[in-house]
Amino acid sequence: MSKITVLPHVDVCPEGAVIEAIAGKSICRNLLDNHIEIEHACELSCACTTCHVIVRVGFETLAPSDDNEDDLLDRAWGLSANSRLSCQAIVGAADLTIEIPRYTINHAKEEH
Ligand code: FES
Repeated sequence: MSKITVLPHVDVCPEGAVIEAIAGKSICRNLLDNHIEIEHACELSCACTTCHVIVRVGFETLAPSDDNEDDLLDRAWGLSANSRLSCQAIVGAADLTIEIPRYTINHAKEEH
Protein backbone atom coordinates (compact mmCIF):
# COMPACT_ATOMS: atom_id res chain seq x y z
CA MET A 1 0.00 0.00 0.00
CA SER A 2 1.34 3.40 -0.90
CA LYS A 3 1.24 6.54 1.17
CA ILE A 4 0.24 10.07 0.35
CA THR A 5 1.95 12.73 2.40
CA VAL A 6 -0.13 15.89 2.43
CA LEU A 7 1.77 19.07 3.19
CA PRO A 8 0.06 21.44 5.62
CA HIS A 9 -2.73 23.62 4.21
CA VAL A 10 -4.17 26.22 6.53
CA ASP A 11 -7.82 25.28 5.95
CA VAL A 12 -7.92 21.78 4.54
CA CYS A 13 -5.18 20.07 6.52
CA PRO A 14 -3.48 22.44 8.98
CA GLU A 15 -1.11 19.88 10.49
CA GLY A 16 -0.38 18.02 7.29
CA ALA A 17 -1.09 14.30 7.12
CA VAL A 18 0.17 10.95 5.94
CA ILE A 19 -2.55 8.65 4.65
CA GLU A 20 -2.61 5.08 3.44
CA ALA A 21 -3.64 5.32 -0.20
CA ILE A 22 -5.52 2.79 -2.25
CA ALA A 23 -3.97 2.19 -5.66
CA GLY A 24 -6.38 2.52 -8.55
CA LYS A 25 -8.27 5.36 -6.91
CA SER A 26 -7.59 9.00 -7.62
CA ILE A 27 -5.59 11.18 -5.27
CA CYS A 28 -8.76 13.19 -4.65
CA ARG A 29 -10.80 10.12 -3.73
CA ASN A 30 -8.10 8.94 -1.37
CA LEU A 31 -7.96 12.33 0.33
CA LEU A 32 -11.73 12.54 0.74
CA ASP A 33 -11.90 8.98 2.05
CA ASN A 34 -9.41 10.04 4.71
CA HIS A 35 -11.40 13.12 5.73
CA ILE A 36 -9.16 15.61 3.98
CA GLU A 37 -11.80 17.81 2.42
CA ILE A 38 -10.11 19.09 -0.69
CA GLU A 39 -12.44 21.07 -2.93
CA HIS A 40 -14.04 19.04 -5.69
CA ALA A 41 -16.80 21.10 -7.23
CA CYS A 42 -17.55 18.85 -10.21
CA GLU A 43 -17.81 15.51 -8.39
CA LEU A 44 -14.44 14.35 -9.70
CA SER A 45 -15.45 14.57 -13.35
CA CYS A 46 -12.58 16.72 -14.66
CA ALA A 47 -14.68 19.84 -15.19
CA CYS A 48 -13.87 22.38 -12.47
CA THR A 49 -10.13 22.63 -11.60
CA THR A 50 -10.84 23.09 -7.87
CA CYS A 51 -9.10 19.82 -6.96
CA HIS A 52 -5.73 21.08 -8.23
CA VAL A 53 -2.70 19.75 -6.36
CA ILE A 54 1.03 20.01 -6.85
CA VAL A 55 2.76 16.65 -6.67
CA ARG A 56 6.08 17.37 -4.94
CA VAL A 57 7.26 13.76 -4.83
CA GLY A 58 6.23 10.98 -7.18
CA PHE A 59 4.91 13.12 -10.03
CA GLU A 60 6.76 11.09 -12.62
CA THR A 61 5.18 7.86 -11.37
CA LEU A 62 1.67 9.01 -12.34
CA ALA A 63 0.11 8.32 -15.72
CA PRO A 64 0.35 11.48 -17.83
CA SER A 65 -2.50 13.97 -17.89
CA ASP A 66 -4.74 14.06 -20.97
CA ASP A 67 -5.65 17.12 -23.05
CA ASN A 68 -8.84 17.78 -21.14
CA GLU A 69 -7.01 17.83 -17.82
CA ASP A 70 -4.29 20.04 -19.28
CA ASP A 71 -6.88 22.54 -20.52
CA LEU A 72 -8.42 22.78 -17.06
CA LEU A 73 -5.04 23.01 -15.37
CA ASP A 74 -4.30 26.10 -17.43
CA ARG A 75 -6.91 27.87 -15.28
CA ALA A 76 -5.47 26.71 -11.97
CA TRP A 77 -4.22 29.17 -9.36
CA GLY A 78 -0.54 28.58 -8.66
CA LEU A 79 0.03 26.31 -11.64
CA SER A 80 3.31 24.41 -11.47
CA ALA A 81 5.13 21.98 -13.75
CA ASN A 82 4.08 19.29 -11.27
CA SER A 83 0.42 20.29 -11.12
CA ARG A 84 -2.36 17.72 -11.53
CA LEU A 85 -6.07 17.58 -11.06
CA SER A 86 -6.25 15.25 -8.10
CA CYS A 87 -9.49 13.68 -9.36
CA GLN A 88 -7.71 12.56 -12.52
CA ALA A 89 -4.37 11.42 -11.10
CA ILE A 90 -4.66 7.76 -10.16
CA VAL A 91 -2.53 6.48 -7.31
CA GLY A 92 -0.17 3.66 -8.17
CA ALA A 93 2.37 1.73 -6.14
CA ALA A 94 4.62 4.71 -5.43
CA ASP A 95 4.38 7.03 -2.45
CA LEU A 96 3.38 10.60 -3.22
CA THR A 97 3.83 13.94 -1.53
CA ILE A 98 1.29 16.57 -2.47
CA GLU A 99 0.74 20.23 -1.79
CA ILE A 100 -2.75 21.66 -1.88
CA PRO A 101 -2.42 25.20 -3.25
CA ARG A 102 -3.53 28.00 -0.95
CA TYR A 103 -6.33 29.06 -3.28
CA THR A 104 -8.60 27.43 -5.79
CA ILE A 105 -10.35 29.13 -8.69
CA ASN A 106 -13.64 28.46 -6.96
CA HIS A 107 -14.22 29.25 -3.31
CA ALA A 108 -17.76 27.97 -3.42
CA LYS A 109 -17.51 24.61 -1.71
CA GLU A 110 -19.99 21.92 -2.31
CA GLU A 111 -22.07 21.03 0.68
CA HIS A 112 -22.09 17.35 1.52
S1 FES B 1 -13.07 17.70 -8.90
FE1 FES B 1 -13.47 18.98 -10.60
S2 FES B 1 -11.71 18.78 -11.86
FE2 FES B 1 -11.35 17.47 -10.17
